[in-house]
Amino acid sequence: MTESVREILARPAAGGGARVRGWVKTARHSKGVSFLEVSDGSCFDGLQVVAAPELPNFESEVRRIGTGWAVDVEGELADSPGKGQRFELQARSVAIVGETGADYPLQKKRHSFEFLRDIAHLRPRTNTIGAVLRVRNAASHAVHSFFQERGFVQLHAPVITASDCEGAGEMFRVTTLDPASPPRGEGGEVDYAQDFFGREAFLTVSGQLEAEIGAAALSNVYTFGPTFRAENSNTSRHLSEFWMVEPEMAFCDLEGNAELAEAFLKHVIRAVLERCPDDMAFFNERIEKGVLDTLAHVVDSPFERLSYSEAVEILEASGRDFDFPVKWGADLQSEHERFLAEEHVKRPIVVTDYPKNIKPFYMYVNDDGRSVRAMDVLVPKVGEIIGGSQREHRLEVLEARMQEQGLSQDDYWWYLDLRRHGSVPHAGFGLGFERVVQFVTGMANIRDVIPFPRVPGSAEF
Ligand code: 4AD
Ligand code: MG
Repeated sequence: MTESVREILARPAAGGGARVRGWVKTARHSKGVSFLEVSDGSCFDGLQVVAAPELPNFESEVRRIGTGWAVDVEGELADSPGKGQRFELQARSVAIVGETGADYPLQKKRHSFEFLRDIAHLRPRTNTIGAVLRVRNAASHAVHSFFQERGFVQLHAPVITASDCEGAGEMFRVTTLDPASPPRGEGGEVDYAQDFFGREAFLTVSGQLEAEIGAAALSNVYTFGPTFRAENSNTSRHLSEFWMVEPEMAFCDLEGNAELAEAFLKHVIRAVLERCPDDMAFFNERIEKGVLDTLAHVVDSPFERLSYSEAVEILEASGRDFDFPVKWGADLQSEHERFLAEEHVKRPIVVTDYPKNIKPFYMYVNDDGRSVRAMDVLVPKVGEIIGGSQREHRLEVLEARMQEQGLSQDDYWWYLDLRRHGSVPHAGFGLGFERVVQFVTGMANIRDVIPFPRVPGSAEF
């Protein structure tokens, strides 16, 4: 492997040979010399290549090089007299590896993010999406380092499942039946007993139920994988396929859960700031002014804690004219969440103890009988970034809740069985990985923080 541009730029001093292979970001051909900025994606900056007329292919090839061409350059690393870069590579040879056609869409001008989504196969070469992908990578690594350092075991939850964890009926069906003529039962309904798995199957909406199985044996586990929601939400914060991080802890209550969530978010943010300073400087300057200050503040201050009831009182007393009315029992909408985090406390908040009627069956019922030990972590701009709860570990209460919500106990027999054998208080949460990347980078639309967004009406690439 050749040294990456990142490694070359990190050399202590100029001098010595270097080789760079990558794509030309900009080419400037002035009289008697060509300047190529070559990027290999290893860091925000490219390496400036200086090509002089002495090169044998100077007139025939080098002069034709334009944006997007793939090149392989060898030369001498020298201090750059020009502004904007420390080193330049004085080329001894410039080999052309791949040209671009005249229709190469990424010219040196600003493209809208909407336009770039239509060329998702090329957009990683832009400054912004390249930076997003490096930040995403650093955040992903930080997810693992956080849990691994604390002794959590990663549990690989299945992608195909028969159970609807959130009970919201927003699952994508997995089937191999012929849609034109599926086998039918006597009443004319589709006979899924003849489907691939011998039953109905779906893409998972959450790995939580399986994580609970893991926690009931290994104590502290986490999952990190893709999850799917067939929800027709065309917003800047929803994807049909997104990645979720779900820790689950045995012998843990909601307080322990909230503490972990806070430490976890801070760890991920710190890690990105430390590993991607150049990318983050770019986001701070070009995408969301002040995002670095916001993040420094988040890392340094304790998260606010509020109960749902207190949050409702604050919203009622705010004098704001919200689109959705606020009243005890109704779910908080994103305008409410953003008011609380962005304007009321100006930093992340953990809201706890929501009404049980708006939350899934698995949450621990409080003694008041009307609220559950749920928690949502809300952050400025993005709103809900984490949703979690202490789980109902009491068999009878869980059975009653499932009955209330019209869920079949047969479908969840194994989940109930866990409550019969060594059931312990436990808690966990799910963090929407793209929402974190959005929060950290300040990117306005969640479709621009995942390499290949899946949303209603679109699954290209
Ligand atoms: O609040 P949610 O639905 O919670 C669960 O799925 C629980 N089973 C998690 C658990 O306790 N283990 O989803 C968790 C997080 C949300 O807070 C949000 O950040 C993200 O997942 N999320 C989405 N992100 C992008 N697009 C969507 N459509 C999302 N739906 C949820
Ligand atoms: Mg939620």
